[in-house]
Order: sequence, then structure tokens, then C-alpha cells
Amino acid sequence: MCGIIGYTGSQRSVPILIDGLRTLEYRGYDSAGIAVRQGDGISIVKAKGRLDRLASLLDSRADLTGGCGIGHTRWATHGEPSDRNSHPHATERLALVHNGIIENYAELEEMLRLQGYTFDSETDTERAAKLVDLYYRETSDPVKAIFKAAALIRGSYAFGVIYADIPNKIYAMRRDSPLIVAQSKDGGLIASDIPAILRHTHSYYRLQEGVVAELNGECVKFYDSNLHSIDQPAEQVDWDVEQAQKGGYPHFMLKEIFEEPDSLRKTIAPRIVDGLPHFGVEQLDGDFFARFEGIHIIACGTAMHAGIIGKSIIEKLARVPVNVEIASEFRYRDPILRKNDLVILISQSGETADTLAALRHAKAQGIYTLAIVNVIGSSVAREADSVIYTWAGPEIAVASTKAYSVQLSILYLFALRLALLEGTMTEDEVRAVCARMLEEIPAAVEKAIAMSDRVRDIARAYMNAEHLFYIGRNVDYDLCVEGSLKLKEISYIHSEAYASGELKHGTISLITDGVPVIALTTISHVCEKTISGIREVISRGARVLSICSESLADKYQIPYSDQLIVPEVDELLSPFPTVTLLQLFAYHVSALKGYDVDKPRNLAKSVTVE
Ligand code: G6P
Repeated sequence: MCGIIGYTGSQRSVPILIDGLRTLEYRGYDSAGIAVRQGDGISIVKAKGRLDRLASLLDSRADLTGGCGIGHTRWATHGEPSDRNSHPHATERLALVHNGIIENYAELEEMLRLQGYTFDSETDTERAAKLVDLYYRETSDPVKAIFKAAALIRGSYAFGVIYADIPNKIYAMRRDSPLIVAQSKDGGLIASDIPAILRHTHSYYRLQEGVVAELNGECVKFYDSNLHSIDQPAEQVDWDVEQAQKGGYPHFMLKEIFEEPDSLRKTIAPRIVDGLPHFGVEQLDGDFFARFEGIHIIACGTAMHAGIIGKSIIEKLARVPVNVEIASEFRYRDPILRKNDLVILISQSGETADTLAALRHAKAQGIYTLAIVNVIGSSVAREADSVIYTWAGPEIAVASTKAYSVQLSILYLFALRLALLEGTMTEDEVRAVCARMLEEIPAAVEKAIAMSDRVRDIARAYMNAEHLFYIGRNVDYDLCVEGSLKLKEISYIHSEAYASGELKHGTISLITDGVPVIALTTISHVCEKTISGIREVISRGARVLSICSESLADKYQIPYSDQLIVPEVDELLSPFPTVTLLQLFAYHVSALKGYDVDKPRNLAKSVTVE
């Protein structure tokens, strides 16, 4: 996900572009850049890092007075974040910004090299810029050049283009990536999202696919592929900037939970090739990992909780022992690492200081390291021996949600890959689980999301609790640990997760009249045991919210005061919709209490200090 802005009009474009990019930074923030029509050509300023870095470079560029320009804030997909890979990408004839993924960029590069083009960056976007350049050279028609290039591109894109020899005009086109176009009283704008235009106008056009928009500062024209001018209906915004940036959701956390099905599809689908797990990482796809005798999963916070589920799944499917540790403990504990062990680091940001230190500690002892990271080019990703990226897109809310779900999906695929290597599962068995992961996980998570209003109604009954307990067994217990963390970090309710068999060794003494207990029952072979635990707390007066799978609710009498049925999914995959319900519960409790859900007190999204 990246952010695009463009402005052409009577004002100086630079401050308008920077201002627009600030509202789009949630779409990506690993680098940023602008291109401005200036004199007879185009001037470009771009830099790796947050937008502030670009803004400070532009502070000393009062010479950039042009009124027509395009800007971009990047979330890397092809090539790590760097000055070179930042957008805009340019030729002597044009500059282009892009949001999306061009799947056949390697093919396009080959074709362009035959035409004499060379490449400076690793991005798919540079290939697109040069493709448009090729057709502009050939046709001298800015609209036709974009259509001809688009006809050869496979994948998704939103493009903004300015040409060196066409003053004051911006061209735009999109497929599968968002782009809006607007005309204000002092200029025309293109943007990836509504907040970027709200300071200028509340009226906009949602650019249709297969149409090129041409903005000249005074009006917007739309052309179809026959180069005929067509009309598009204008739409009106009645949101404020803050709401619009969240896509109409009241908080980023809710938006990010709602994005889970999409993030899961994006993460899982490319990793299943010919029905089997495939990571696009040489060592991982061969039998390299068969030599590992033990696995250590090291991470912090929610990422560590994903690791706990990873342990259960890897041990269950591949029968390889897994040790999960908190990074801040691992680094100072002098852990036993054997030559043939593998250390897996999990991190959304890839910048968590303790996780990075743990990675360096393992590497210093000659241990092979594999990172599962969301932010491309982050420190953990760069320093690990191998990296598997999760494709959740930027996560803004401090409480991690969609990043956890995609981390789980990678750990499942990893466990399946390992099970094949270890011979603990047949190829057919692995294929069957892979097929279910693709079909069932996003669909079940969608159904869990559709239960959001019901979860909110139930949350109302629990929001004033002072203490709350989560109980479950097996993988349900692993999920309880994450559910409990989610609740305490954003609602400030003291909560604890207990393996339900452990209740009688302490916690049961805290259960008195009305104490809330959330009981998870999605694992059949321990279901009856969990039910005994539920009975024990109910007989001491607990109010029980049962979160259970449909098949187990049908088969057993699971006692409850309130009940949420987890959308039906193969039992092995039940953590996916179940955790969505737990995230929604924590979210609604916090939102109902009127707390700052996205920025809970004392917590930070990325903890880069010890
Ligand atoms: C902080 C965040 C958590 C996150 C943890 C690990 O504590 O508030 O949400 O789970 O860091 O972050 P990482 O970026 O390494 O996944």
C-alpha cells in the first residue's frame, strides 16, 4: 500500500503535495518523494525514511516554485526502502508515481532492455515509467502512451504521471488500486484517498477503471480507450479529515481488524504454489531446513504470542521441538543454542530493540536466523539470514491485530513445509490443509467480523469489570494469552489467561460472585476437560462468556451466561476466526469506555529502545 498525491493549479505545488502526503502516511511511510514541473523539465526530490525527512530536504528548495507536481509515500513491495527505490521514477520525458503491484515487471524489463532502456532501481514502478516513456516517444500522445502501457501490465496499479514537455497537466489511471480525482477552486488534484483533498474541496470523482484522467488546473477530463472524452459523476464527502483517513471507521484498530481477510489472502495465496507451501526463499523451499534439530521462536508482545501458537502447530504437524521465548529474556539468559538449531524472529515492525538484539545474539553464535516481518527492509529483515514477509500492509493502531493473524498464517505454512520435509505428513495431506487455508480462513474471519455488533452488545456487559479471566486448553489457551493482552493493553482491565487445568492451583480462589471469565472451547479432544473448568468457575459465581465452535456447542452442553459461536472452520484453523472475536471484544470494551483505542496510555507501536 502506498499513497499518491498530485496537484496542478495556481498555487505553489510543494506545500500542497507535502500536506496531502501527511494525510496519506498511514498508507506507507518507509520513503517519500515528489516531482515538480519546473522550467522546461521536471525536478525530483525523494528520500528514504519518514515524510519529515523529505519535508526538511524541501525546506531548502525555495527554487521549486512550480504549480504542477506529483508526490508519493511508499510502503515497499519490490526492493527495500532506499532513496533509489523511492518514487517518483522518471525518464527525461516524464515522472510517474505508482501504488499497486505489477506482476509481470520482469517480463516488461526484458522487453524494455531490448529497446535500450537501463534500470537504476529494483522497483516494478521504474519498469512502468519506462514503458509509458517508450510509448510517449512513439506516439507523442500522453493519454495514448498511458493506455498502451496499461494494456501490457498485469497486476494492480494507480498511476500519476507528469510530462516534461506538457506544462500544468497531470494524467492518472488505475486498476484495482484506489485513486480519486478532484477539482477545487485553485487547482486539480489526484489522491489515493479522500483525506488528501479535503483541505481543498469536498467534491471528488472516483476514477473509473479503464479511463485516463487529465487535469489542467481548471477542469478534469476523462478519456476512454478510444480517446473519447467521457463524463464521470462527482461524489461528495461529508466526513472530516480524521474520519476519512480511517476509511470511515472510528478507529484504526477496527479498520485493521476488518482488513484481516484481505491481509490473510495476500499473505497466504502467493505462498501456495501447485497446492504446496512455497516461500520464494531458496533455502526454505529446498530441504535446507530438514537439518534443523530444534527451533527457537523469539519475539515480543503480540508477535511472541503468535510464536506460542506456532509452537503448538509446528510440534503437532512436524514433530520438531520448538522453544518460544520473550526476546528480552532470551538475550540475557545465555540460552542453549545448538549448531543445528534454527532461530525464528517474529516482528511486525522489524525494529523492536529486544528482538533485534536476540537476532544478533543468535547470529554471533553461528545460528541460522529466519525473520517473519511485516515491514520490508526493516532492521530485523535486513540482518536475518532469511526473511519471510507478511503482507498485512501498514498497521497503525498500537494494539496489533491483522499483523498477528498473518504471522499465524506464515507459521502454519512453515509447519506444513516442515511436516513434508520430516515426513510426518504426506503430500496429499499437506495439499488438503493448504487448500483449506485458502478457502476457509479468509471466509471464516469475514464471518467473525460480521459478528462485530453482537460482540459489542456482549462487551457492554463486561466493560465495567475490574478483573477478568480467560481460560482454555491447548491452542485455546495460547489464544487466551493474546486475548488477555489485547484487553488489558487497550481497556486497562486487569486480566489473566489461565490454562483451565491450572485453575485449581490458584486462580480459582479469585473467582467470586459475578467475576467474568471468558472460556474458549474450539479443540475437541480437550473440550470435556474445559467444560469441567467452566463448571468449576460457574459454581463459584462466575459470569461466563463462552466462545466455542459450532460443532462442539452442538455435541456438548457447554455452560454459559453469554455465548459467541466461532464461525465454522476446520478445527486446525480455528485460531483465525477465534482471535478475530477476541480482538473485537477487546476493541469494543475499550471503545465503549471511551478510551483512545489506537493510542493506549504508556504504550508505543514500535519499541526501538530497551
Ligand atoms: C510493542 C507493541 C505491540 C507489539 C510489540 C512487538 O509492544 O505495542 O503491539 O506486539 O511491540 O512489536 P513488533 O513490531 O516486534 O511485532
